[in-house]
Amino acid sequence: MIRINSHYQKLQASYLFADIARRVAAFQARNPQQSLIRLGIGDVTQPLPAACIAALHKATDEMANASSFRGYGPEQGYDFLREAIAAYDFRARGAQVDADEIFVSDGAKSDTGNIQEIFAQDVRVAIPDPVYPVYVDTNVMAGRTEAAQDGRYPGFVYLDSTAANGYVPALPSEPVDLIYLCFPNNPTGATATRAQLAAWVEYARQNRALILFDAAYEAFIRDPDIPHSIYEIPGAREVAIEFRSFSKTAGFTGLRCAYTVVPKECMAWDDSGQAVPLHALWTRRHTTKFNGVSYPVQRAAEAVYSPEGQQQVHALVDGYLANARTIRSAFESMGFACTGGVNAPYVWIDTQRDAWEFFDLLLTRAGVVCTPGIGFGRCGQQHVRISAFNSAAQVEQALQRITRALS
Ligand code: MLT
Repeated sequence: MIRINSHYQKLQASYLFADIARRVAAFQARNPQQSLIRLGIGDVTQPLPAACIAALHKATDEMANASSFRGYGPEQGYDFLREAIAAYDFRARGAQVDADEIFVSDGAKSDTGNIQEIFAQDVRVAIPDPVYPVYVDTNVMAGRTEAAQDGRYPGFVYLDSTAANGYVPALPSEPVDLIYLCFPNNPTGATATRAQLAAWVEYARQNRALILFDAAYEAFIRDPDIPHSIYEIPGAREVAIEFRSFSKTAGFTGLRCAYTVVPKECMAWDDSGQAVPLHALWTRRHTTKFNGVSYPVQRAAEAVYSPEGQQQVHALVDGYLANARTIRSAFESMGFACTGGVNAPYVWIDTQRDAWEFFDLLLTRAGVVCTPGIGFGRCGQQHVRISAFNSAAQVEQALQRITRALS
């Protein structure tokens, strides 16, 4: 008899954004005349930078010619892209990362979801709350928890991120092995200072723990004092894996390209207490289960680092950041406490009422889609997340509708 992985039965019925999409579709079916403005899922709306489009066209033409055609590429990514990433995203910021420590992939969602496979079943996992649900669900699927009770999974160590700690969680009071951190944060938009990240790195070093650092939103950092990479912190190479993405940086959500950095010094321990390099383990996993991002897409990603690509990407992100500022100031004018929206594309709003109730209010009275904070964890119970990923005109219109609906 074929049996299922019963850990799947511990999960919520559906993934957060699938659940929201279903509710929105049902509302739209009942109200076909209502135009909707989507500020929910963090999906970009503006076209790809011209430099990326030109590179895509050129690479596609190469694929049409026998002399320049390419079949399977290296699973970890082409050297041209890995070298550009190492030089521009890390060495230019004073962080040491070598090209062969970079694993190019189809998304930070896949990588942050898959990475847990290389760790023992019984590692103690620290999960911030609120949090990107992928970190939670993939560890539940792997059997690292009991079934949820009151919205939390026994087996995780939860790290509350609230207004009281500026949405940067305190170090755990009980031992943990695997720590998920995301800055600029999804969903709160909070950023971590150098000193705060240094404290986490020190914790990991003292406790032989590992930090999984999700930096998918680093391109939104404009404050020169905020670190873009965990590797800007001395000692982090031994205790941290970092995830990056071209999705939000350069509008690649539909094209798919991201990367993960596994430094060669990064270790975990086997059953006999022997240190094992995670670089070797992830190489084994990645080359077994992944066949590389397509050549044209990697050329498009490389174009992000050209002078014109850098300028275009900067302008793209500036547009979303301007939206984020507008959203935050509109909600603050209406009397709501907000965080994020500065150095981040998300605004986290304390609604002082049930998150789904507020979501329904914005949907039904304003025709605006947001994300209910409870979908990111218990600490999001009274919050919603508004995403800046839309055009300035749509954001303006959404805010006018919301202001009317709430007054
Ligand atoms: C989000 O809205 O949280 C993100 O778009 C999800 C993702 O990047 O997978």
